[in-house]
Amino acid sequence: MKSLLVTGGAGFIGSGLVHRLLAVDPSVHVVTLDALTYAGSTANLDNLPDLERHRFVRGDVRDGPLVLRLLRENAIDTIVHLAAETHVDRSIAGPAPFVQTNLVGTFTLLEAARQAWLSERVVDPGVCRFHHVSTDEVFGSLETDSPAAIEVTRYAPTSPYAAAKAGADHLAWSYWRTYGLPVSLSICSNNYGPRQFPEKLVPLVILNATRGQTLPLYGDGLHMRDWLYVDDHCDALWRILKLGRAGEAYNVCTGRGSTNLEIVRLICATLDRLAPDSPYAPHASLVRFVADRPAHDRRYAMDASKLRQQLGWAPCESLEGGLARTVQWYLDHSEWVAASSHEEHRAWLERNYRGRGMAGSS
Ligand code: NAD
Ligand code: TYD
Repeated sequence: MKSLLVTGGAGFIGSGLVHRLLAVDPSVHVVTLDALTYAGSTANLDNLPDLERHRFVRGDVRDGPLVLRLLRENAIDTIVHLAAETHVDRSIAGPAPFVQTNLVGTFTLLEAARQAWLSERVVDPGVCRFHHVSTDEVFGSLETDSPAAIEVTRYAPTSPYAAAKAGADHLAWSYWRTYGLPVSLSICSNNYGPRQFPEKLVPLVILNATRGQTLPLYGDGLHMRDWLYVDDHCDALWRILKLGRAGEAYNVCTGRGSTNLEIVRLICATLDRLAPDSPYAPHASLVRFVADRPAHDRRYAMDASKLRQQLGWAPCESLEGGLARTVQWYLDHSEWVAASSHEEHRAWLERNYRGRGMAGSS
């Protein structure tokens, strides 16, 4: 692994991975390909450990000729594919970009890799890897008493986001089985941490709370998620790239489930502690139950034993510690927060939360 293409590297997880790759391995070169949608920002790539070994390209993963040129020019041997439309609520409001980027974009990348690696042999196919990053949402909602999903549990996606991700996973496997393209896959639970776009639950709650705005919990707030600190995900990706094998999928999660209500209360308690002068403390008083998400998956749960046992991975950060680091990061990065509050995002918040009976509160 010498020359990597990271798609979606200006987003939340992708930028964390680019930072990590450049920091841990002085021999790797990284090309970041990102379209800079509303969720991506080059600010996420500020302060990279080594600029000499990094190149940023603004472009769309659906642009086949561009992708093929990047693979050839940079003799890419490893693709880590994270670029995606990622917000479930947006996928419900308008699924088209999810099908385009998540499904057509993945297909375009797979085709380009097939051409560069298997037809043209730009680099030795024996050292190549196409690593595709997926989500536990592909398994759909698990019953309370059913066992946690393992890598081969049947897919049952619910939202357009999850269905498009599931379709992309199937396409990736089809390239492994049909053409022998060296594909690996990781399936991760909910991430949180610095630089997450404030449409997702954790940063949305942190920022709303610091402004004295409503903290919206969908439905009864008892939906279960397994929250993983983003650095632990990046560490898992690094291990899978180094030690994992083509043809294999790896679940990535902590194994600890929390309800949304628990997470929001924990964020509020953390803010009460880290911002003791806030006029809005106790922040939990801002919580409101609002209209539920359609087809809202009740429970996600996965088993990451394979990754732990075969690749020696374990998460380092506790939920309490990770949330404290995250809250502190948002308190310390007002410029990043201001830049993320662009017109497109404000319009989305207004539309989404007005529809849930929260006009003017976002
Ligand atoms: P994000 O929304 O923060 O970032 C996505 C990035 O992709 C953005 O920088 C955006 O500009 C870029 N992008 C979108 N469409 C593009 C296109 N057509 N061409 C090129 N770039 C494009 O997302 P994230 O939370 O960092 O998620 C990254 C990946 O991890 C996604 O594939 C997602 O499905 C997966 N994942 C996320 C989580 C999570 O909790 N955030 C959990 C499991 C899996
Ligand atoms: P989210 O952060 O959107 O991630 P995902 O849908 O990919 O899991 O949502 C996490 C959980 O929080 C999910 O059960 C929906 C819920 N949620 C709320 O209750 N209120 C909100 O304002 C948001 C954005 C999410």
